[in-house]
Amino acid sequence: MKVLGIESSCDETGVAVYDTALSGAAGLLAHAVYSQIALHAEYGGVVPELASRDHVRKLLPLIRQTLAEADLSVADLDGVAYTAGPGLVGALLVGAGVARSLAWALDLPAVGVHHMEGHLLAPLMEDDPPAAPFVALLVSGGHTQLVAVDAIGSYRLLGETLDDAAGEAFDKTAKMMGLPYPGGPQLAKLAETGTPGVFKFARPMTDRPGLDFSFSGLKTQVLLAWRNSDQSESTRADIARGFEDAVVDTLAIKCGRALDAAGCDTLVVAGGVGANKRLRAKLQAMCEQRGGRACFPRPALCTDNGAMIAFAGALRLEAGQREPAAVHVTPRWDM
Ligand code: KG4
Ligand code: ZN
Repeated sequence: MKVLGIESSCDETGVAVYDTALSGAAGLLAHAVYSQIALHAEYGGVVPELASRDHVRKLLPLIRQTLAEADLSVADLDGVAYTAGPGLVGALLVGAGVARSLAWALDLPAVGVHHMEGHLLAPLMEDDPPAAPFVALLVSGGHTQLVAVDAIGSYRLLGETLDDAAGEAFDKTAKMMGLPYPGGPQLAKLAETGTPGVFKFARPMTDRPGLDFSFSGLKTQVLLAWRNSDQSESTRADIARGFEDAVVDTLAIKCGRALDAAGCDTLVVAGGVGANKRLRAKLQAMCEQRGGRACFPRPALCTDNGAMIAFAGALRLEAGQREPAAVHVTPRWDM
């Protein structure tokens, strides 16, 4: 089954075609992402109305480009998948409207995908994919969740953030220290030049049982450290390193506990923060030490993309899921 995937929940327009006749990375016939970062940079964050308009502008050219790269025409498609939520309502409606219209015109089945299920299943698009049961750490700009995956489509929430998501904490901390938008990747880059241990921040909520997270206090600690420092370039890098180490350690400690609680030895990591090099290395080492395995998508499939939506949608369409041909999105949606 060749499925066209469309992602437009926030500030990335993503399009891909996944072919379930091939498995792993080979199944991804083509994918393209257009990032709106430059558009939103001057506002320091995503402006919903501008995001919707830019999706309108970019989506059809990106679909044409992706099909051309896969050497396919619309007549070769067997289904259409799109992000139905959670996300910005106007942005979601653009993707849903285009996907539903295409499916109707081509007489194809279409399915709305949960954005976080897309992230969660992204590592399964790589070669040697993990099999359920496993524990998934979902770390993005909007979510930080630990999920027990008993089977694909059967998810139990083990823990989540009580305030800021990990990516949000990266972005806000970066902004506080004057780094340009979007801050997360910039802060991670700066941390590479920082010295570990110069600034030591708390590992929030690791001193008590439970699998929930809280990152807003850590952000405040960093703000105080920054305000009381000489604010030099090297201090900024040292603080960035201290912050990154605190987030990475906290996530690793909770992941270890979640694997214990679920009785699993496979950890799957997905979402934008999953692109963080230090987090990848730490979780890999932690899982190997336990005799298990950590699985990640390639960095380009950690952040928002159409491939994960094509793949998650293809699994649902193959399982026979069909929805009525109505344009419906769910801006707030528990998985
Ligand atoms: O999954 P994603 O692209 O969008 C959401 O669904 O939120 O995640 C974006 C988040 C942002 O907060 C961004 O700062 C963070 O992922 N991020 C990173 C890195 N790359 C992206 N955070 C830390 N280190 C990175 N290398
Ligand atoms: Zn996302």
